[in-house]
Amino acid sequence: MRSRSERNPQASANDGFLAFTSSVAFDSRLWRYDIAGSITHASMLAEADVITRADHEKIVSGLRAIAADMRAGSLTLPASAEDVHMAVEKELTDRVGDAGARLHTGRSRNDQVALDMRLYVREALTHIMEEAIALQETLMRKAGEERRTILPGYTHLQHGQPVLLSHHLLSYFWKLQRDIDRLVDCYDRANVSPLGAGALAGTAFPLERSQAAEMLRMRAVTENSLDAVSDRDFVAEGAFAASLLAMHLSSLSEELILWSSHEFKFIRLPRTLSGGSSMMPQKRNPDIPELVRAKSGRALGGLVTILALLKSLPLAYNRDLQEDKENLFDVFDTVGASLHALTPFLAGLEFDRARMRESAETGLMTATDLADFLTTRGMSFRAAHGLVKELAELSEGNEGRFRELALERLSTHDGKLDLKDLEFLTLENAIERRSVEGGTSSKSVKTQMEKANASAKGTFALLQKMRSDVAAVDELLS
Ligand code: ARG
Repeated sequence: MRSRSERNPQASANDGFLAFTSSVAFDSRLWRYDIAGSITHASMLAEADVITRADHEKIVSGLRAIAADMRAGSLTLPASAEDVHMAVEKELTDRVGDAGARLHTGRSRNDQVALDMRLYVREALTHIMEEAIALQETLMRKAGEERRTILPGYTHLQHGQPVLLSHHLLSYFWKLQRDIDRLVDCYDRANVSPLGAGALAGTAFPLERSQAAEMLRMRAVTENSLDAVSDRDFVAEGAFAASLLAMHLSSLSEELILWSSHEFKFIRLPRTLSGGSSMMPQKRNPDIPELVRAKSGRALGGLVTILALLKSLPLAYNRDLQEDKENLFDVFDTVGASLHALTPFLAGLEFDRARMRESAETGLMTATDLADFLTTRGMSFRAAHGLVKELAELSEGNEGRFRELALERLSTHDGKLDLKDLEFLTLENAIERRSVEGGTSSKSVKTQMEKANASAKGTFALLQKMRSDVAAVDELLS
């Protein structure tokens, strides 16, 4: 039998073209946005009397039937199509004939794909935000349980000053809060309709662009057709916001991994969410945070690829833009999955409070408090710092020796000092003295917790609004 190319040389050339350029294999997942966008485009066409009401009805019911079949799994878009847009349009035309062939009037795949991507980003950001909120809630709950737990606070991974574990956990709440703020910010810029921009210069048909925007619950229409079809800022921003969030997850994971090691022993890993070893029967491994740490690198790779492909593109649409998809999908999928795995892991682990306390008792963590105290006795902070540094060196990290030496040396500076004066050098005092706003004292942490709660309420209200926008797509499909 003769091969296809021998029968039809054109087919082979086309196959070669499609093999390299087709995006159906990965952009099929945009079908819901593509169909919803087409329904709104058809409505604009009908409203402007560019197509008849009858054709409009055929198009909309045809598109909804396709959506139902896609959802049921009884239809897969052919890999032989160039992309999801061509595949859906062809399927529609096969089903409803001439009316389907009128759908693309006044539209280009350039404004179409820009719309699909904006709708996808809008929804993906909402999902990441839901997952980030769940992690924030877990952090707040754990912080509430650990209001009295003291652990060493570190700089350079060396003992610094004691802090409350609740304070430590809440620090991640605020990092996530900024991540969420960035997601919301990106959402706002993504939530704008480019439909009507056409290929690059704007459509020549009298379409009321705001009609599609309203149907899709997007907040505005784009201001410049050239910008509309070339702008992928929302792709890069979304990838950045998600990657930075992933960096935070990676830092948190790194701490959990360290804390679970025999050297720290600050936490006990949740049994059902830990890995084992195929050889060493005694092992309980922190596989989840390790993978979260690794996957943050993968997200970062996606972001860098996206930025690299956008760099130096001339106006307006260029096929390079197709290459954003796999990267962006992967960034959002990876970060979403990381959040989804890390939250129950954090919820399930136990802190070893006694062990944290024991560790905080070492490392001369009240040295700053002693220097602070000397300033209240008239010494300059620099002089006090120098003196306490010397004592710390001499005592070689031994807490008892440090106090003895302190008393000895300080009496020569201040005859009225006695051992009682040094009794304030406790972990509790070191913590409670830091009652400044945002400090680690229990009072400050209580206020912080209230602010975190208020902040979470605000986020939740935003999420409700986003969910209702996003729901417009599925509402249009049924
Ligand atoms: N698959 C293309 C993309 O993802 C759709 C737009 C194609 N436009 C074009 N003029 N070839 O960017």
